[in-house]
Amino acid sequence: MKNENEKEQNTDQPCGVTDPPALLNGRPLTIVSNRGPIGFSCSEEGELQIQRSSGGLVTALLGLAQNINVTWIASAINDLENEYGHGQYSLNENGRAINLELVPLEPDVYEGFYNVISNPLLWFLQHSMWDVVNSPTITRATWQAWQNGYVVANQRFAEAVAHNVRSTPGRSIVMVQDYHLYLLPRMLRKILHLNRKNDQLSLTHFVHIPWPGAEELRILPPEMRLSILEGMTAVDVLGFQTYEDSINFLQAVIANLPGASVSYKNRRIWYRNRATIVRDFPISIDVAALKERALTEEVKQQREALEQSTQEMQVILRVDRTEPSKNIVRGFEALAEMLETYPEHIGKVKFIALLVPSRLDVDEYRDYHDKLMAAAGWVNSKFGTSDWEPIRIILGDNYDRAIAGLQLYDVLLVNSIADGMNLVAKEGPIVNQKNGVLVLSERTGVSQQLSEGALTISPCDIVDTANALHQALVMPEEDRARRARILRTQVEQNDINAWFCDQINEITRLGY
Ligand code: G6P
Repeated sequence: MKNENEKEQNTDQPCGVTDPPALLNGRPLTIVSNRGPIGFSCSEEGELQIQRSSGGLVTALLGLAQNINVTWIASAINDLENEYGHGQYSLNENGRAINLELVPLEPDVYEGFYNVISNPLLWFLQHSMWDVVNSPTITRATWQAWQNGYVVANQRFAEAVAHNVRSTPGRSIVMVQDYHLYLLPRMLRKILHLNRKNDQLSLTHFVHIPWPGAEELRILPPEMRLSILEGMTAVDVLGFQTYEDSINFLQAVIANLPGASVSYKNRRIWYRNRATIVRDFPISIDVAALKERALTEEVKQQREALEQSTQEMQVILRVDRTEPSKNIVRGFEALAEMLETYPEHIGKVKFIALLVPSRLDVDEYRDYHDKLMAAAGWVNSKFGTSDWEPIRIILGDNYDRAIAGLQLYDVLLVNSIADGMNLVAKEGPIVNQKNGVLVLSERTGVSQQLSEGALTISPCDIVDTANALHQALVMPEEDRARRARILRTQVEQNDINAWFCDQINEITRLGY
């Protein structure tokens, strides 16, 4: 069924206002994500400590949240988070406090929600990483995790958001984030009895990871994929990282959601008497905040420590969570291939891998962690000498050290086999001090914006990657400087404020 709104002009152009507080015009804003912006820990003296969480979502949204008034709703999964997870928290003196509201989830709910359904099932599906001859196998345990984990967690989030909307005067804007919360929007509308536009809120959902082809979604049983699509079509504006992701989603709806009608021209879905517009909003970083942090004493100290270990050598760097989609093993294999083919680099280059252990309660992640450590050990034993270690892995979650590493690289390797965006590729050019070269997988969202300034590689091809690493290491200074300029300009012109404002402008344009 087509609605007469279909006749509206489609314009993908944002309206052009790029000042978040002005744009909100006093409307209350709520961000909802599984991972909260800050983590809590206890010092040895028993004092509460807070630190910034890791991951792409937090990197992008934290800067934004420190510039505007925002309530951030996220999961509480331990005693500290349950105890302290409500209130105003500020991570730095200049930033505004974030109003934090953590949703308590019992360990067994969280286990099914996070460790069985979100990661790996949905994450692997959306990054096209399942080897379907062998996995996934949807068992009774998977169904239990779906019902008692994913569905329950989404319901709890929906109730928390409903409470927040009801208790906040004015028409709220609620921005739901990522694959953990696909069911939330429809549940929320049910609780609030909302169906038509101009109700008491505007609802958006942004998917930070790739959306695969329609056929891929059929790895999920009909009940799961139907609930997911029904959930996602309950928002006003649905955002993806790239145009291709948005088109893949429209195709998924046509193939899997009976009763929905889709306009490709307007990228609009009609379902259950309401419209969802689907757009791409490539996410980015807070450029000003990153530049400021790069100047701090903490970053300087980390840089000095790293410089001691690299001395006069050229530095190849990667900064990642220990994540199969990041393709860390092939990165090490590519270094070995390069040393074999271009032995002039032996003893003159150091590959630093700053890795944040991630999702280690999931088998696939634990296995991958072991595999990458073994791969680095193999390269070091094959090429290393008593005074030269080709690869140095530094494990831990330290954002200042990551920024310090990014200041120092000659080559930044981002070789993901699939990646919604990849913000390390945007952070690097902003803080790097050496006109370092970006070697970038063509299967990242960010390659659509940065490939002109980068050396683009095919991520499964370690020969191609080795050649690109070599080319980057021997590139003349003039060429390095030109490429670094292109990258910097591109990131500076499209920072996180643009990502946010484009979504709010879209809501405003629709009259919500
Ligand atoms: C990806 C997701 C983000 C998430 C990050 C870290 O980048 O798109 O939503 O913040 O991974 O994941 P974690 O499981 O550690 O929260």
